[in-house]
Amino acid sequence: MPNIQVLDPHVANLIAAGEVVERPASVAKELMENAIDAGASTVTVEINHGGLTFLRVTDDGKGIPADQLKTAFLRHATSKLRTEYDLEAIGTLGFRGEALAAIAAVSRIEALTRTADSELGASLALEGGTPGPVEEAGCPRGTTLVVRDLFFNTPARLKFMRRDSAETAAVAGLMQHLALSHPDVSFRFTKDGTESLHTPGDGKPASAVYAALGRDFAKGLVPVEGRGGEIAVSGFITAPLQGTVLDVPVKAGQAVKAGQVLVVIEAMKMENEVVAPADGTVGSVSVQKGDAVAAGDPLVTLQ
Ligand SMILES: Nc1ncnc2c1ncn2[C@@H]1O[C@H](COP(=O)(O)OP(=O)(O)OP(=O)(O)O)[C@@H](O)[C@H]1O
Ligand SMILES: [Mg+2]
Repeated sequence: MPNIQVLDPHVANLIAAGEVVERPASVAKELMENAIDAGASTVTVEINHGGLTFLRVTDDGKGIPADQLKTAFLRHATSKLRTEYDLEAIGTLGFRGEALAAIAAVSRIEALTRTADSELGASLALEGGTPGPVEEAGCPRGTTLVVRDLFFNTPARLKFMRRDSAETAAVAGLMQHLALSHPDVSFRFTKDGTESLHTPGDGKPASAVYAALGRDFAKGLVPVEGRGGEIAVSGFITAPLQGTVLDVPVKAGQAVKAGQVLVVIEAMKMENEVVAPADGTVGSVSVQKGDAVAAGDPLVTLQ
């Protein structure tokens, strides 16, 4: 057996990078989380070829001071954590100080950034983690990171990438999730030059749902909220998306109580009960046992 030896730092960095950056969607996730942590109110993500050749994230957050720009790309470099005690009260999405170093190790990066108190911004290019000089650059407040040729120096990883369309779909799905969980941030997503998502960032969850999931989906949603002690929960529920009616245990004219089962639908391999939202009388029943139904189809009206 060969001798046990400590790995060369270059190899160790590539291995560590592989744990953070599995595919283009991992890059998009880390960069979007950084933008949100920086207090951005708009975040734009543009990708070409599933994000493998080109992925750009632009934010209007607080920016990175020029004298800290190189440090941001070092491993274990973070502004979000100082001591072990801070670990117990983390309020940011990132804190490991790993992401930028990991992405830089396996791509070619250009960073452009400006803080509010500086008139000039700064730029920095890195190739396979090796930085060039920090240069002065005119740019709006915030940060833009362009990541090109992902995995150019790790061909084994590149070979395992799926089709461009699968990688594009992974980035799009991730953007939907982030947009839905941050309705106060306006997200814009462009793939191969075509805009496919644009949320208003007006702080209203319903607007984010409408923009991210579409009008048809949004119109079938029912807002819900509840509170118990210190915890408040709010959100939306929807009827199962597509299914078959298993049972309609009510008839027109019948009085029903809030919570009473009106229709039982089999969808997503589960039985789902649609219940009366309030006390009332059944007006009309539009479905019967065996019918196929989709989201938004009328089932039962209540008076
Ligand atoms: N878009 C951005 N705007 C402002 N500052 C940023 C931005 N992206 C990164 N930074 C700064 O660079 C530092 C390093 O970023 P990096 O993503 O590598 O680490 P992190 O976010 O602290 O932790 P994690 O590795 O868990 O994401 C951050 O702590 C932050 O100070
Ligand atoms: Mg981060």
